[in-house]
Amino acid sequence: MEQTFIPTKIEALKEAGTVTWQTPSNIALVKYWGKRNPQLPENTSISFTLSNCYTVTTLSYEKKLTQDACLNFEVIFEGKKNEAFKPKIETFFNRIKEYVPFLTAYKITIESSNSFPHSSGIASSASGMSAIAMCLMSMEKQMNPDLTEQQFYQKASFLARLGSGSACRSVKGELVVWGEHPEVKGSSDFYGVEFKDKVAPIFKNYQDTILLVDKGEKQVSSTVGHDLMHGHPFAQQRFAQAQENIRKIKSIFKEGDVDAFIALVESEALTLHAMMMTSSPYFILMKPNTLEVINKVWAYRKETGSKLCFTLDAGANVHLLYPELEKEAVQDFVKKELAVYCKNGEYIHDKVGMGAFKLT
Ligand code: DP6
Repeated sequence: MEQTFIPTKIEALKEAGTVTWQTPSNIALVKYWGKRNPQLPENTSISFTLSNCYTVTTLSYEKKLTQDACLNFEVIFEGKKNEAFKPKIETFFNRIKEYVPFLTAYKITIESSNSFPHSSGIASSASGMSAIAMCLMSMEKQMNPDLTEQQFYQKASFLARLGSGSACRSVKGELVVWGEHPEVKGSSDFYGVEFKDKVAPIFKNYQDTILLVDKGEKQVSSTVGHDLMHGHPFAQQRFAQAQENIRKIKSIFKEGDVDAFIALVESEALTLHAMMMTSSPYFILMKPNTLEVINKVWAYRKETGSKLCFTLDAGANVHLLYPELEKEAVQDFVKKELAVYCKNGEYIHDKVGMGAFKLT
């Protein structure tokens, strides 16, 4: 499979160029938690692509004076030279250079900024890594104009995955599936695919308000987190459950069954945290305010009949998911009742988006 992504045709290398992409973050409904080498998921996951939480990356390239096999790049983040991100990007580049052979021919400058506050706990690796992947694909397209759109996006997702697993779901489409599943046509462990089955109108333009309960450095890096699934006593049951949940969510989308959606999505979030709490070593990534918010959401749903639900990433922040028709009511509830549980009262209103787009 990987062989397909090694370019066979590269026309003369351009001397220099620049390209800019904006790519979104995403929020998983069925979670990816557990991987094997090289960045292959232990189970299928599906996510909503976001819209307002994104990274903008400009990649400039200039042919090196002497051609050697070394990587030569620098990173500028939010206007300042950034050494801290370099090791992660270097690992990424080393993983993909086989598929992007011209990478070592250039001196590369990566200038990035996020639409969301730095260290907000919002997964920036998904938007950040997919943005670099998109830029590299634009470079390749300049050198091989025959690349089809399908090949372009598929390889972009393939490359993004090698930077960060969830990044492969931040390339194209509103709902993206990553990981082979017998009931999702075209699905693959190697890249994300757009979920093309029927989705009832209630799930269109779904809203996501992100409550920044705890900002700051992640307590557990995702790499360490995924590793905890190796030898985890409940790993196999968890992977099987995720496969089953993909099957279920497919019919939930088709039928427009929001109650079943709520049950599945909240259970996925709590299961992810249960995996962390039952691993060795164990972690509790929720904060007291995470639980306060969850209880408030449940009480609000009971009182009002709302279809508001929550999901969590590997951290304390809470993503509130709700249909567009409840936008006004839920946002009012957030402002009046939930903002107090957020650090500095901060939250971000977001909604489902379409994926990456090119700015130049
Ligand atoms: C909890 O994609 O950040 O957000 O592949 O090691 O970069 P790496 O992990 P990452 O893991 C994300 C895990 C999650 C669930 C999800 O997005 O599916």
